[in-house]
Amino acid sequence: MNKSDIKKITSANKKAWNQVAPLHKAAASEQLDKLFSDHNATVQTDKELIKVLDEISIKGKDIVHLCCNNGSELLSLKRMGAGRCMGIDISELAIEEGKRRSEQFDIDCEFICSDIYELSDDYNNSFDIVHVTAGCLGWLPDLNLFFGICNRLLRQGGCVLIHEIHPFSEMLPFDNSDIDDRLRIVDSYFYSEPIVETGSLDYIGNTDYESEPQYWFVHTLSSIIMGLMNSGFNLHRFIESPNDISMSHAKVEKMKAGVPLSLIIQAQKQIYTSG
Ligand SMILES: C[S@@+](CC[C@H](N)C(=O)[O-])C[C@H]1O[C@@H](n2cnc3c(N)ncnc32)[C@H](O)[C@@H]1O
Repeated sequence: MNKSDIKKITSANKKAWNQVAPLHKAAASEQLDKLFSDHNATVQTDKELIKVLDEISIKGKDIVHLCCNNGSELLSLKRMGAGRCMGIDISELAIEEGKRRSEQFDIDCEFICSDIYELSDDYNNSFDIVHVTAGCLGWLPDLNLFFGICNRLLRQGGCVLIHEIHPFSEMLPFDNSDIDDRLRIVDSYFYSEPIVETGSLDYIGNTDYESEPQYWFVHTLSSIIMGLMNSGFNLHRFIESPNDISMSHAKVEKMKAGVPLSLIIQAQKQIYTSG
């Protein structure tokens, strides 16, 4: 995809995210403020992720969280002992909320509003971990370009840590669907074009409204893995889990039907030696 097509898509998605930001804030801000007033609280609840964060030992590590939304996950990582913490998101309103909360609760995180595809080179070679979490990859039109940006943000020896919605789950009916059979395959796994939606993006407060058009990409497992390999990463850890982190498949999770709903990938930046 060329740069101008990417820009059209990311600009449309930015409008949709700025439109929903006040609704998400109205639904969750008070609860998040209450949570961060407790110094030991964290929004990370997925046991698999907590285990991995523990194993890679984030204490003192410099972390950049891409598509960080209002930064709640990043604020939690800082509270868990991470070093420099930076969150990047395309929505000014989400970034404003992250900044406000970091100041109010004295949690030292930097927040930058930027389209990830236009991120300044100033941050190259600056981080030990690039973190990507639920519902980031689907907004990105070009995965190879994205993982190239992840690579340049990392120092030698750094890694990208992805905690994402499993693409398999995108074939199943969402929680709000009328279809009774939750395990019926209702959608294709292989999309070459983005899915364009104008339905509500308010998955927190569930307000019904007509959204600005949103462009969503179903990236298959192979495109994620090949994207990493093509961008100078070695696969280090790959976990598939039946835990729902999408807020759209709680009903499938409850069935305990053995369906993969989320994944964790840790990929190491390849080390280049001269000579
Ligand atoms: C589902 S949210 C991520 C949620 C996050 N894991 C959390 O739980 O708060 C997706 C985020 O990606 C951001 N985003 C989408 N496209 C982007 C882009 N091109 N560059 C930077 N951020 C982008 C949106 O603004 C939104 O905040």
